[in-house]
Amino acid sequence: MLKCVYVNGQFLQRRNAMIDVEDRGFNFGDAVYEVIFLNNGILVDEEEHLNRLEYSLSELSIALPKSRRVLSLLIREVIRLNKITNGFVYLQVSRGVAPRDHLIPDNITPSLVIMARSSNLIEKPSIRNGVSVITVPDLRWHRRDIKTTQLIANCLAKSDAVKAGAGEAWMVDENGAITEGSSSNAWIVTTNRELITRPPSSEILNGITRRTIIELAKEERLDFHERGFTTSEALKAAEAFFTSATSLATPVLSIDGQQIGSGKVGPVTKKLQAMYVKFASSA
Ligand SMILES: Cc1ncc(COP(=O)(O)O)c(C=O)c1O
Repeated sequence: MLKCVYVNGQFLQRRNAMIDVEDRGFNFGDAVYEVIFLNNGILVDEEEHLNRLEYSLSELSIALPKSRRVLSLLIREVIRLNKITNGFVYLQVSRGVAPRDHLIPDNITPSLVIMARSSNLIEKPSIRNGVSVITVPDLRWHRRDIKTTQLIANCLAKSDAVKAGAGEAWMVDENGAITEGSSSNAWIVTTNRELITRPPSSEILNGITRRTIIELAKEERLDFHERGFTTSEALKAAEAFFTSATSLATPVLSIDGQQIGSGKVGPVTKKLQAMYVKFASSA
C-alpha cells in the first residue's frame, strides 16, 4: 500500500499528491525511472541504479533533479515514512511541466516522484517455483537502453502473457533473437551448461540485476557467454530464467507451452538465485 509519496519537494499522503496535467512525463512519456529492491532495509545495488538513472537522464538531456546524496536521503525518508523494510522503491524523473508541444523545451525544471511499496519478493511463489513464458514480437523503439516510462509495448506484452496463463513475455526481434522480457532480462543455460544472456546494446535495458548475476556467475566460475540467442535455441535449453529488481532470478519452466529441460527449477538457476539472495542480504 502506498501511503506517503515524495512529489516535487513535498512528502504527501498519496491522495493529496498531484502531478500537473502538462507534465511531459504524463503527456509524452518524457520521463525515466528506476526500481530498487529493498531487502531487510538494504537498498540493493542503490549506487548502480542511481548511475543508470544518471545515464538515462543524460541520454535525454534531462537534468538530475537533486544531487546523488540528496536523492539517497529522499529515498530513505520515503522508506521511513512508509515504515517499509521489504519491497521496492520507485523513483521517476520527468523533463518537467511545459505547454504541450512535441518540441522539447529548454531549461524546464524536472519533476521528481519517489514511492515505496511493501512486498516480500523473496517469498514470491513465482520466484520460488518458476513460471511459464510466452514469446511476442518486440514492438518497441530502438533506445531500450534508456529506462523511460514509455512502456505501452511492454505492458501489452505482459498482459498477453498473463492472458495466456504465463508469468512473463519474452520479446523477439526481427531476426528471431530474444531481446528481453517485458520487465526483465532473459537467460538460458544450454545442455552443455553454458550460461547465456544477450550483450548490452541499445536493443535491451542493461539490467542492474543482470550485471550482478554476471558477477556472481563469474565468481562461481560458470561457463558464461554474453551473446544473443533465438527462440528455437531457448526451446532446446536445459534451463531458462529472467532477472530484474522485482523478479530477482525467476525460473522459466516452459516457453510457448513447451517444457524447458526437466520442467522444474534447474540447478544453475537455483544456485544463482541463492547467490543473489545472499548478495542482496549483505550488500
Ligand atoms: C525491459 C526491462 N528489461 C530489463 C529489466 C531489468 O532491469 P533491473 O535488473 O535493473 O531491474 C527491466 C526492469 O524493469 C525492464 O523493464
